[in-house]
Amino acid sequence: MTALHHNLSLKDEIRDYWSMRSESFDSQPGHEIFSADERRAWLALFARHLGSAQDGETKGGRALDLASGTGVISLLLAELGYSVTGLDLSEAMLARARVKTAGKPIRLYAGDAEDTLEADGSYDVVATRHLVWTLPDPPASFREWFRVLKPGGKVAIVDVDMTNPRPGNGRALRLLARLAKRFAKLPPPAAHAAVHADIVSRVYFARGCRPEEVARLLGEASFVDIAIDRDLRAIHRAQGRFMPLHQRLERASQDRFLVSARKPG
Ligand SMILES: C[S@@+](CC[C@H](N)C(=O)[O-])C[C@H]1O[C@@H](n2cnc3c(N)ncnc32)[C@H](O)[C@@H]1O
Repeated sequence: MTALHHNLSLKDEIRDYWSMRSESFDSQPGHEIFSADERRAWLALFARHLGSAQDGETKGGRALDLASGTGVISLLLAELGYSVTGLDLSEAMLARARVKTAGKPIRLYAGDAEDTLEADGSYDVVATRHLVWTLPDPPASFREWFRVLKPGGKVAIVDVDMTNPRPGNGRALRLLARLAKRFAKLPPPAAHAAVHADIVSRVYFARGCRPEEVARLLGEASFVDIAIDRDLRAIHRAQGRFMPLHQRLERASQDRFLVSARKPG
C-alpha cells in the first residue's frame, strides 16, 4: 500500500479518478450518445425495463439516476417523461451535467449511491449505468436502492464485465481484438489506465462484474422479477460506427448487460 492509499479511502480515489476523466468523458463513443439511432436504442431499452412516465403505472413518475456522471442517462430518463434526480460522487462530472441538463426536469447533487440520504419509498424507478462494477459494497447498495423505491418500483442496472468474456463467442472475439490491436498503431496507454486497474483490483467485483452475481445479490436484497437482458445489440451497432475495429471487437467480446428487478408490492 502506498502513502497515498493510507490517506484516501477507496471511494475518494474513485471520485478523484472520475474527476480526472470528466473533461474527456463526453468525447468518447460509448459514454456520450453520438447518433439518433443510439439515442432511440437507449430509450427503447429503458422503456422496455422501466416503462415510460408518459403512460401506465409510472405516469408522472420520479426517477433516481445513480452515478449520473455528465447526465447522459438522466437526460434519457427525462425524455421518457420522468422527473429525475441524479447524484454523483464527482463535482467535476456534476458540473458538466449541470450545463447539459439546464432547463430540464433534472435535479443534481453530490452524493454517494451507496448511501443516498433519500427518503424511504420515494422513487418509481432507479437506473444506473456503469456504476455497479466500481461499488465497494454492492449488497449494501442494493438494499439502499430497495429502500428508496416505492412498492412496485423498478431498478435497471446497465453494466459490463470487463474481465470475463461474454458467453458464446466472447473468447474468440477477444483473440481477434488482441490481433487487431497489434496491427493498429496505438499510442501508449493513457496515464489513467494504471489508476483504473489499481481501483478495479480493490472493488467488490475485482474478478469481474458478472450479471448472474448482480442478479443474485438483487434477490438477496429482496427484489423480485429479476431478469438479465444481454440484447444491447442496437446500441452497440450504433456506437460501433464511431469506434476503430479493435475497440469494436474488444467491446463485442465483453459481457455487456442490463439487469432489471422490481420491489414487491
Ligand atoms: C463510468 S462513469 C458513468 C457515468 C454515467 N452513469 C454514464 O453512464 O454516463 C462512473 C460514474 O460513477 C460515479 N461514481 C462512482 N462511484 C460512485 C458512488 N459510490 N456514488 C455516486 N457516484 C459514483 C463517478 O463519479 C462517475 O461519474
